[in-house]
Amino acid sequence: MTTQNSSSITFPPALQDRRVLVTGGAGFVGRSVVAAFRANGIPVTVADLKPFETDDSEIVAIQGDLRDAEVREAAFGDDVAGVVHLAAITSVLKSAEQPQETFSNNVQLTHDLLELARVKGAEKFVLASTNAVVGDVGTGRITVDNSLLPLTPYGGTKAAGEMLLSGYAGAYGMKTCALRFTNIYGPGMGHKDSFVPRMMRAALAGSGVQVYGDGGQRRDLVHIDDVVQGILRAWTQDFTGPAIIGAGHSISVLEMIEAVRTVTGAELPIEHVPAKTGEMPAVIVDISRSKEDLGYQPAVSLVEGLETVWRDFLAAQSERVAG
Ligand SMILES: NC(=O)c1ccc[n+]([C@@H]2O[C@H](COP(=O)([O-])OP(=O)(O)OC[C@H]3O[C@@H](n4cnc5c(N)ncnc54)[C@H](O)[C@@H]3O)[C@@H](O)[C@H]2O)c1
Repeated sequence: MTTQNSSSITFPPALQDRRVLVTGGAGFVGRSVVAAFRANGIPVTVADLKPFETDDSEIVAIQGDLRDAEVREAAFGDDVAGVVHLAAITSVLKSAEQPQETFSNNVQLTHDLLELARVKGAEKFVLASTNAVVGDVGTGRITVDNSLLPLTPYGGTKAAGEMLLSGYAGAYGMKTCALRFTNIYGPGMGHKDSFVPRMMRAALAGSGVQVYGDGGQRRDLVHIDDVVQGILRAWTQDFTGPAIIGAGHSISVLEMIEAVRTVTGAELPIEHVPAKTGEMPAVIVDISRSKEDLGYQPAVSLVEGLETVWRDFLAAQSERVAG
């Protein structure tokens, strides 16, 4: 999916026509990122455990586990300008159940890719990080200057990845940028178990959703088009460091449900269940520095964004019925 925002970004001459390696390019965020680079005429190599099917001759798809050195070598080839590193274990729950596996996928792999980038002279490295690197700040506003105090193996491995990027920037002059995403939503998230797809599935089925506690927890939902814009800006700007990529506006779980009712027309009844221990009361991010550092400016409203997800769920359902 391409946005007005990301197709209007100017690529500096040094990056025009240069190949980008997108790890995790067959995933939810990856597929939109690949499409946006291609819409800007940039050749892309996708490396993922999952297959990436395309008839675009400017996309090279490498299928395999990037922890395998041969897969990494094949993915880099000799001509990549840098890496947009999205491949990771992305589930907080899985990270707590399998911390060792999470370390090898999220930390060791980040190091191995940085090292290969250094050896191959690829100077750009953009990492998909998370607001969870700062842990629980209560109802406080999260800025890019908060201390890193992750509370899960997932958050810990992303924080460690950020530190590796900082070290490679400092020692070798690489341009490295860690983008701390909030909760991303958009088309292509049918395989996910987060709250937006859960609400969409319930709306399709005519069923309801469970709400932990009173539903007053606040979250920042950022649309995939704005995330893609942030990634392309990080790619094209000469900026090194962390940046927060969110909507910059938080809403409660109950407000989310109300917005999905508006968009889908579904009743979406709710059942309150006990609050989960350790759940963060709020994620409220300050994106002003990302505007200054990257020129990042989110453009998709919640209702517009939810409409794109609903259309995607309806289309997938029609395909299931037809096929
Ligand atoms: N979706 C969100 O709300 C969100 C929020 C914050 C950060 N992030 C980060 O953004 C990135 C992309 O997330 P997503 O939602 O697209 O996840 P996703 O699970 O849809 O995509 C991740 C892709 O990485 C691939 N992958 C994982 N390990 C691999 C390996 N060892 N070798 C090759 N491929 C591998 C998977 O096959 C998958 O296609 C992740 O790094 C995630 O931690 C996502």
